[in-house]
This record gives sequence, C-alpha cells and structure tokens, in this order.
Amino acid sequence: MPPSSDLTARDLESVWHPLAQHRDFAAAPPRAIVEANGVTVTDSEGRQLIDGVAGIWCVNVGYGREELADVAREQMARLPFVAGMMIHEPAARLASKILDRMGIAGRVFFANSGSEANEIAFKVARQYHAQTGAPERHKIIGRYRGYHGNTLGALSASGQGERKRGYGPFAPGFLHIDAPDPYRVFHDTALQLERTIEREGPTTIAAFIMEPIIAGGGVLIPPDDYLPRVREICDRHGVLLILDEVVTGFGRTGDYYAHQRAGVLPDLMTLGKGIASGYQPLAAMVAKQEIFEAFHGAPGDGVHLRHVNTYGGHPVATAVGLRNLEIIEREGLVERAAKTGDALLTRLHALEEHPQVGEVRGRGLLIGIELVEDSASRTPLSEAATMKVVARCAQEGLIVGRTTNTSAGLSNVIILAPPFVLSDDEADRLAAALETAVQEELRA
Ligand SMILES: Cc1ncc(COP(=O)(O)O)c(C=O)c1O
Repeated sequence: MPPSSDLTARDLESVWHPLAQHRDFAAAPPRAIVEANGVTVTDSEGRQLIDGVAGIWCVNVGYGREELADVAREQMARLPFVAGMMIHEPAARLASKILDRMGIAGRVFFANSGSEANEIAFKVARQYHAQTGAPERHKIIGRYRGYHGNTLGALSASGQGERKRGYGPFAPGFLHIDAPDPYRVFHDTALQLERTIEREGPTTIAAFIMEPIIAGGGVLIPPDDYLPRVREICDRHGVLLILDEVVTGFGRTGDYYAHQRAGVLPDLMTLGKGIASGYQPLAAMVAKQEIFEAFHGAPGDGVHLRHVNTYGGHPVATAVGLRNLEIIEREGLVERAAKTGDALLTRLHALEEHPQVGEVRGRGLLIGIELVEDSASRTPLSEAATMKVVARCAQEGLIVGRTTNTSAGLSNVIILAPPFVLSDDEADRLAAALETAVQEELRA
C-alpha cells in the first residue's frame, strides 16, 4: 500500500469524486479509507470511525465478512461469468428468495445499480400498457424530494431540483407531486396524487413511483395510511405502483421490505444497495406475475422485454447477494435493525429539546435529524451550519450523512443509516458523538 500522502496525491491528480467541489480538495482532501471491520472504518492515518451511514446505506451486514469474500472467490474460480440469457444457480436461487420473502409469484430482472433497476421498471410499465390495450398510458408520476437514480430516466423521475440542475431537458412524460412530510407539508398528498391523475387524464398515466420512506431526500416518514391509500388510488385508475426499495429493502427500516408494514404489495419493485450489502454491485427489478405474463407471446410477436445488460445477474454478484441474505436471516438482522433503531431513535428524540433541532424521525436504522434556524419558524438551517455538525461528528469519530445536493434550501437533514450489526455499545458511542456535535456546534 502506498504511504497515505502518496495515495492522496495520486487521487487528487486522477479521480473525479461524486458530489464534490474539487477546487478545495487539495486544502482539505477527503479521508482515504484503508480498511474496515464491523461498523468501523480505518483511515490512512490509523484513525477509526463508526460508519454511521454504512458506506452509502448499503453495508448492512457490516464490514469484514470473510464468508462473503470466500463465496466470491469460489464463484470466480468455478464460473466467473454467464450471459443473462442463460441459466445459472446463484441468480435462480437469489430470485426465488426475493420473491419468496415478498410472498408473491413474479419475476426478478437483475441490474447493476438502483438507477438501472428503476429504468427497467419504467420500460416494463410502459411496455406493459402498450401491449395490454392502453398504449396512451406513458406518463410516470414521481415525487418532489424523491430520488430514483442518476441516469436520465431515473433522474427525470426524481424530484430533487439541485441534483438535476444543469442536466435538462429531461425525459418527457415525468410529473411530480409532493411527498408526505408531516414536518413541512400540510396538505393531503394522497389526494394530490388522485387529483393529478384525474387532471392529466387517467388513461395517460402508466405508473406512480415512490420510496416507501424518502431516504436521501431527508428521511420523510409518511403517515400510516398513505401507502394503503396510494395503492387504492392506483388500482382504481389502472396506474401501476412502483415501489423503489433500493434503500429500504432487506431490513433497513426493520421490516424485510418496507411495504410489508403497510400490508400492500407493489406491481413493480426495485432493489439495490442492501441486496449484496455493498460487497458487489447488484440491483434488481421485481414484477408481479400478471405483469410478467403480459410479455408472453409467440416468437416474432415482439412482446418480450428488450432490456439487456452485460453484467445483470452476474454470477459472483448474485452468489454474494444470496449469501448476504442468508446472513441477514441467520443472524436475525432485520429484527436487530428494528430493535437497535427503536432504542437509538428513543435516545435521539431528546435532541429535539435543542432549539435548532426541529425534528428527529426514523424507522429501523434509517434516521433523520432535521436542523433549523429555530424551532418556532422551522426555517431550514444553512448548509454551512449543517456542515459544521457533520464535521464535528467526524472529529468525534462518527461518519454521518446529510441531504446533499437534493432540494434547494433543504441541505439541513443529518442522516444515520449504520450497519445492522451496530452493538449497544457502538450505538451509545454513535449517539454520544452526535449529541456532542449538536450541543457544541449549534446555537443554544
Ligand atoms: C431510493 C433510491 N433509489 C435509487 C437509487 C440509485 O441507486 P444507484 O446509486 O445504485 O444507482 C438510490 C441511490 O442512492 C436511492 O437512494
């Protein structure tokens, strides 16, 4: 390994990092991370930090799982690649498990990223309508503050103005409505969905896409009746419901899939991140059986799905994904995320007594801390002031996330999404670091 100064110099000359303003990098370069174990990452200076965001909310089983490295090595040695048009064991077994845990018949299409999984869902929704007698249904409704990925279709569906700036014009046929946010949005957003469908003309709407809990947009928790109402509205108007569970799937919110708590099923669902806990790039789009069957036809009918990718369903990625889900189940990590998350949220609620902490909210191990100028006005805290809290957390040994380049004026939510293996002692240290940062860096 090169000495850390060499490593940083080489990086600064050659790597273009996401979401970063590079001009100031040389003065304050980001940390070089050299190894990790459990919930702890070690930087090139030997400093250890609790990773309060599990990479980008994906290393759900924690770092240092030799078992996953072994599975990858064995699969690479035996069969490193198979084209998606053929059959191989890890993809077949992983797809069965995904469907089995949803409790439905259907099909899983493997992808390389959450963005691609959403692109596939949009194609499936449009093609489904086109070949079931409703070719006019092409519009896709998304939500402000929601995020569905970086590719132009997925970004078109996203409702984060800052993330989209400079990349327009976007794909036609994408509309947005408000998402429920009990702290800032006071109208009935399910009703807004229905009104939008009616005003656009129900026969023009292909699908509605939503995250069960908006994650990167600020951890926005909907009221309990929101998803059931959305399901009913979509059904009544023949609109497909796409649930983006890229963040929430596989236990992040304390349920295997976040939609299960609401007792509704999606028509299409997208998965990523926790599917392989970040040990391999892997994602998936799930379609219920009835939708899949609309793609059945005789050879030459042209009703088959025409999306193809080189690496979707990669044997190594799916083998690792399968073992990752086995670990989650064997170690009861979904239940653990629910329990640790509840305890952490209960403790962090006390931060709301601080005048600049507007709200602490979360479910399972997905927690948002909304910072404000003062709790009476609820004016969002500035990005610069929020950054001070983030930086102080790092000084205290904790990496936290925040709303970054999402919606103008709302770079004020600190985000926690640690690995599910966070112990009680680590949860204590995490909470203590955050408490110090809030007490010391915000105006009392
Ligand atoms: C809810 C949601 N959907 C989709 C994506 C895109 O996933 P990826 O970055 O793997 O393309 C993200 C990424 O953060 C996400 O948070």
